Amino acid sequence: MEKDIYILAIESSCDETAAAVVKNGREVLSNVIYSQIALHTEYGGVVPEIASRKHIEKINQVIEKALSDADRELSQIDAIAVTYGPGLVGALLVGVSAAKAISFASGLPLIGVHHIEGHISANYIENKELEPPFLCLVVSGGHSHLVVVKDYGEYEIIGRTRDDAAGEAFDKVARAIGLGYPGGPKIDKVSKDGNPDAIHFPRAKVGDAEYDFSFSGLKSAVLNYLNSCQMKGEEVVTADVAASFQKAVIDVLVEHSMDALVKLGYKKFAIAGGVASNSSLRKAFEERCAREGIAFYHPSPVYCTDNAAMIGTAAYYEYQNGVRHGFDLNAMPNLKLGEK
Ligand code: KG4
Ligand code: ZN
Repeated sequence: MEKDIYILAIESSCDETAAAVVKNGREVLSNVIYSQIALHTEYGGVVPEIASRKHIEKINQVIEKALSDADRELSQIDAIAVTYGPGLVGALLVGVSAAKAISFASGLPLIGVHHIEGHISANYIENKELEPPFLCLVVSGGHSHLVVVKDYGEYEIIGRTRDDAAGEAFDKVARAIGLGYPGGPKIDKVSKDGNPDAIHFPRAKVGDAEYDFSFSGLKSAVLNYLNSCQMKGEEVVTADVAASFQKAVIDVLVEHSMDALVKLGYKKFAIAGGVASNSSLRKAFEERCAREGIAFYHPSPVYCTDNAAMIGTAAYYEYQNGVRHGFDLNAMPNLKLGEK
């Protein structure tokens, strides 16, 4: 019998201060998230400086709670994992410094994890049978990537956004129609009362790269629509705008993913990142995948948005692959997926 591996994982790349204890990669013993959303709502988006300061204030409490919820002492942990990029540099630094300090004091190995690898790995937590290879759509506030997960820790990005990320588009459009921050969950909710076919917004194609995304044109189209309504004195039906915008995003995400699945012949498909908790997006993929005979995986909403359990899961496979970082590990705001 192999020895059980317990990983204490830390995540602070944006506006969630999070820590978790994960056993053997797929069993979450604790998952503590201190969300700063309320703090940033007032400003209509994440203020990096405020995020870093709050991380500093909360990180020790969150780590201690993760250990106590898991009923583990530091002496019963095998490695410390931390997100070291991409993200806000000041925010990342707080987690990285905490992880290095714990690793130094305890002598436990340190494993730096790529944030997107974490999001993808969130799928392993509740889908015990899921193993690479598979195709994964990562849609968050900062990223829209179509990724081939070739093996644990081995990725190929076949599509990416040329401008705004999907979540960013949700947030910007929500602000424009007066729903506030964070936009994704609000548009998701309001759309349920709207007509997705009320307004036709463009579905952008990027000419030279069939799987790439572009959402800035869609965002402008929504802004133009709002402006023209205002000029003509026409009433804006918020729910219809939200539902029509959401449908335009989902159509593009679904079309590109399904094209890639069919062309590349993958039979397993997963979604990840904050936008993956969108109810209409899940429904659209459920239907299309069922029709095409493709197994569809998605994490529960709590594992879609930023959390440390997903970092602990990703770190387990990195640990098994022999990845260890030194105390020169630094925050890398623009870290590329697959870079070590
Ligand atoms: O993965 P995440 O927590 O942070 C990043 O790594 O960026 O994603 C946050 C993003 C935000 O843009 C938020 O508006 C979006 O995910 N989001 C949603 C939903 N819940 C969160 N977008 C659409 N529908 C949702 N239900
Ligand atoms: Zn994220």
